[in-house]
Amino acid sequence: MIEFVFGSQWGDEGKGKIVDLLAANADFAVRFHGGNNAGHTVISGGKKFPFHLLPSGILNKHVIGIIANGVILDLEVLLSEIKSVENAGFILKNKLLVSPRCHIIMPYHKALDEAYENARGKNKLGTTRRGIGPTFSDKVSYNGIRIYELLSEHDFEEKFIFQALIKNKILKLFGVKPISINKELAKFKDLRKKILPYVKDTYEVLSKAIKDNKRILLEGAHGVMLDIDWSPYPYSTGSNVITGAINNGAGIPVQKIDRVWAVVKAYTSRVGGGPVPTELHGEIADRIRTVGQEYGTTTGRPRRIGWLDLVATKFSCEVTGSNRLAITKLDILSGLTQIKVCVAYELNGKKIPYSACGYNELADLKPVYKVFKGWSEDIRNIKKFADLPKNCQAYLRFIESTLKVPLAIVSNGPERESYLKV
Ligand code: GDP
Ligand code: IMO
Ligand code: MG
Repeated sequence: MIEFVFGSQWGDEGKGKIVDLLAANADFAVRFHGGNNAGHTVISGGKKFPFHLLPSGILNKHVIGIIANGVILDLEVLLSEIKSVENAGFILKNKLLVSPRCHIIMPYHKALDEAYENARGKNKLGTTRRGIGPTFSDKVSYNGIRIYELLSEHDFEEKFIFQALIKNKILKLFGVKPISINKELAKFKDLRKKILPYVKDTYEVLSKAIKDNKRILLEGAHGVMLDIDWSPYPYSTGSNVITGAINNGAGIPVQKIDRVWAVVKAYTSRVGGGPVPTELHGEIADRIRTVGQEYGTTTGRPRRIGWLDLVATKFSCEVTGSNRLAITKLDILSGLTQIKVCVAYELNGKKIPYSACGYNELADLKPVYKVFKGWSEDIRNIKKFADLPKNCQAYLRFIESTLKVPLAIVSNGPERESYLKV
């Protein structure tokens, strides 16, 4: 059984929680794209783990965590995450494998991300400043440095110095401080020793796992509305987040994937710039942000809030071939008298699909809303669909029928236990 969990909106849909939940039935939990721009929260045993690079299923005892070739790695972040998980009593030796094909996020990538954002001024994109765009651009222009290069200290140093000298010239043009090559090289000597014990050809492990009918859980990062091809570019992240990215990023043929889980947050949130058609300002947005604790897991930034956008979400479900729905954060909507859902986009009096929209169209269109009556009950401890308030059931069934994907899980609290099966 191979399952894929993806975010259907702008990220932070609750993927970490759903992955952790499904990992109870998995042998392997795999990250295959993105980097530590991701922030996936898992709450286990009352403790909160904000995972940026480790697969969110890794806390399950029998699960082997795999960081496959499509992920870009900030080694300091990964090692500190390993340390904090180990300090909490989860030993990762022989439990975590890292592909030698992963590209490394270098200090100059982070400096360049920062420099580009600052240079854009009021037009800044709102990146996480983790070096994501510059690392992916080096990858496709053959200027990247992978974990593979780290295997030989000499090769690594030669490549690092070559790249760092060039990047320092660019940084100088931006008027920012260049990176200290010697200091960074000394740091990498230490990081290299610490990371190499985890390095292994993950393709071989995963292809054997498929032949042995093992259960593989693939964890998408970000959301389809941030996909490098399918977002309102350049309000994007540097990787593809849709199903095909699994083939690139982990070497798993897509036709082997049995279940494609769309994680749909019961409303919309977004960190960073770019248009959000259903964005709300004022009292309702503030309430949802506060109750939902909508502050970035990676950067701590307050998240922008909006009504659920079923036009965008339907596109996500279709482009990924989704066949299971997990609706999250439903509990946050309790107490609202009215809940709106966007069911169509109208531009200059005409209906348009998500796929026809660039950032200008998304910013200018008029969302067409269907209005639902809210519910006042606290739904956090409810375990059966039939026990949910009737208005709440109607809201969920409407989402399901519009998306044409069967609803399988409703999440009604941040903890692992807070969910109901439909
Ligand atoms: P991810 O990036 O998609 O994994 O999501 P994040 O972890 O960045 O953000 C989701 C936040 O909502 C985290 O703080 C989760 O602990 C929390 N969360 C997840 N599901 C639920 C839910 O059903 N109800 C509530 N109240 N919180 C949830
Ligand atoms: P998870 O996996 C929310 C957004 C950033 C910014 C844009 C580009 O937790 O859902 P980048 O640093 O990737 O170059 O920034 O993408 N972004 C996310 N927003 N959740 C995420 O990940 C995100 N990953 C990237 O805020 O707008
Ligand atoms: Mg997140």
